[in-house]
Amino acid sequence: MKTLICGGRIIDPAQNMDEIGDILIEDGKIAQIAPKIIEEADQTINAEGHVVMPGFIDLHVHLREPGFEYKETIRTGAMAAARGGVTTICPMPNTRPVIDSPDRVKDLLERAKDAAVHILPIGAVTIGQEGNELADIAGMKETGAVALSEDGKSVMDSLVFRHALKEAAKNKIPMFSHCEDKALVDGGVMNAGAKAEELGLPGITNAVEDVIVARDILMAKETGCRLHLCHCSTADSVLLIEMAKQQGLPVTGEVCPHHFILTSDDIKCDDPNYKMNPPLRTKKDVDALIRGLKNGSFKVISTDHAPHAVPEKTGSIRNAAFGIVGIETSFALSYTALVETGILTISQLIEKMSWNPAQILGSDRGTLQKGHPADIVIADIDHEYKIDKNEFASKGRNTPFDGWKVKGKILYTICDGKIVYQNA
Ligand code: DOR
Ligand code: ZN
Ligand code: ZN
Repeated sequence: MKTLICGGRIIDPAQNMDEIGDILIEDGKIAQIAPKIIEEADQTINAEGHVVMPGFIDLHVHLREPGFEYKETIRTGAMAAARGGVTTICPMPNTRPVIDSPDRVKDLLERAKDAAVHILPIGAVTIGQEGNELADIAGMKETGAVALSEDGKSVMDSLVFRHALKEAAKNKIPMFSHCEDKALVDGGVMNAGAKAEELGLPGITNAVEDVIVARDILMAKETGCRLHLCHCSTADSVLLIEMAKQQGLPVTGEVCPHHFILTSDDIKCDDPNYKMNPPLRTKKDVDALIRGLKNGSFKVISTDHAPHAVPEKTGSIRNAAFGIVGIETSFALSYTALVETGILTISQLIEKMSWNPAQILGSDRGTLQKGHPADIVIADIDHEYKIDKNEFASKGRNTPFDGWKVKGKILYTICDGKIVYQNA
């Protein structure tokens, strides 16, 4: 099966490429990439006037299966990914049961076999994510887990965490840290400060995140483990990553669109669609996140796509579930907020959504080089549209961005050479 993509603006950060050209896909791989390809194909896609990029890789997604299929299934989550131009997703292990053993990893991969996009599981650090007994890290890596994470919380016992980091380092699997000091949360449900006081809601201070970011960086230094800091939201977490970078430590960070676009001042009323963990912070924090995106401290933009059902996101922020969906809006929001404004070049944005996450996973995806898997996304970056949560493929409708006008429409998502989403 041969597919020819013609006349698009091909942007592949890994090859420093931004030029008009053609791509020939054969047997699921990039067979040729050149200014002009003359070749009979079974299928031709006219990409004139559009950008052709490596498929996005989202390192931080919640699929909810097994156990919470009413929120999302592997099938609906993967379809949502395809709709967002995302060809690889890494689901977090906080399902029921928790993905904390080789058998659970195997079961997840079995369930994911027919999903629209590639699914690379993340294994839990401890049994049941309870923070006490280490999971079988070597076994999970062997069965196909690509990272470890206790996402939803931190491993609060530093000695247990040290053992985990050593075991992870030994098995060459990265640690993805959700940074949150459990005791310091103290019942908080949104960012601590004037807005929380105005709404009469208990606050989450920056230190809740920062003390664990600092601890985890220092412990990565001690153990040599590859550390990836999830959904950074504070000014000091940027400073700490900058420090880690200066010291040449094996530390990377990710940031999510909601954290670099919104502040707690955008919470106009007690609306659970603005509730997530970590919470929306202040303008000062957002400015620092933007600095981190510009200076390369944040190598990755992920979504923390966290679907919840309507009743769980109704009523007051006080009682609602933490988390918002994001995988279907990530590219357009990021393009609009970062590229249209001149903060990043489009190539820098694509790098943070494809090539850099691929490097963290040690994957051969995230680039359009000849011989690599044909995971490709084609978008119309000039097409402005309104985000409509009712069009989501995800079961989740919990987004604060419903009705927002954005640029960057995904036209095709291609996974191993197969069109898995089309809106042309
Ligand atoms: O907002 C969040 N939702 N943060 C997390 O850490 C977990 C996630 C979820 O699983 O819903
Ligand atoms: Zn988290
Ligand atoms: Zn998460």
